[in-house]
Amino acid sequence: MRRKLAAGNWKMNGLAADLAEAQALAADHGAPGCDILICPPATLLSRMADTLGHAPIALGGQDCHAGAAGAHTGDVSAAMLADAGASHVILGHSERRADHAETDAAVRAKAAAAQAAGLVAVICLGETEADRDAGRTLEVIDRQLAGSLPGGATGANTVIAYEPVWAIGSGRTPTPDQIAEVHAFLRARLTDLMAAEGAAVRLLYGGSVKPGNAAEIFALPEVDGALVGGASLKAADFGAIITALEQA
Ligand code: PGA
Repeated sequence: MRRKLAAGNWKMNGLAADLAEAQALAADHGAPGCDILICPPATLLSRMADTLGHAPIALGGQDCHAGAAGAHTGDVSAAMLADAGASHVILGHSERRADHAETDAAVRAKAAAAQAAGLVAVICLGETEADRDAGRTLEVIDRQLAGSLPGGATGANTVIAYEPVWAIGSGRTPTPDQIAEVHAFLRARLTDLMAAEGAAVRLLYGGSVKPGNAAEIFALPEVDGALVGGASLKAADFGAIITALEQA
């Protein structure tokens, strides 16, 4: 049985004043019926960990370096994230793949580093609009999955987030059939790559998930939760998405 997961990606948003949103979320979801994860900017991790105390909300980074330590100005290691209170790290988000030219091999190396530091890697993949229009969605997803998944990946240390690039921050979402098609494909490929462990990996959908469309998305087969950007910044919106997931 895979436990559902509602993950919030704050991206490059959040100052100390925004810790109140996490606090409000914790107050409203003291005994949640799903796992909750917030990935704030690295600057807020340790303060958010202090603010949340023992609340059942996990924290994650949004990226890490593949190395353990060293001369990499501006980078953060997986062990540093763990030290700051993180249990998870988002890797291979399309904004990192685009803004920082991260390849599948780079994402795989980072995921291996996350594993070594005891973090759960939330590995993101998804097609561009041009890929979809060209009928190459499953081919792209397949290549990203096979290239980004590290050796030693298990259902306990790996989560996969399907995020069509064109749906992120755009207010557009795939049709239910399109989401279901990709998730079914991912489940089958995970089983090919990881045998029985493939059935234990949680598959999140991400891209313009909102309170208004969450229930429809969560009702789809093989959707184990969501990776939420914009709508995770406000406790009221993220809370409504969490409630929809609990009820799915
Ligand atoms: P969005 O972002 O919910 O704002 O579309 C999702 C993501 O990029 O993880």
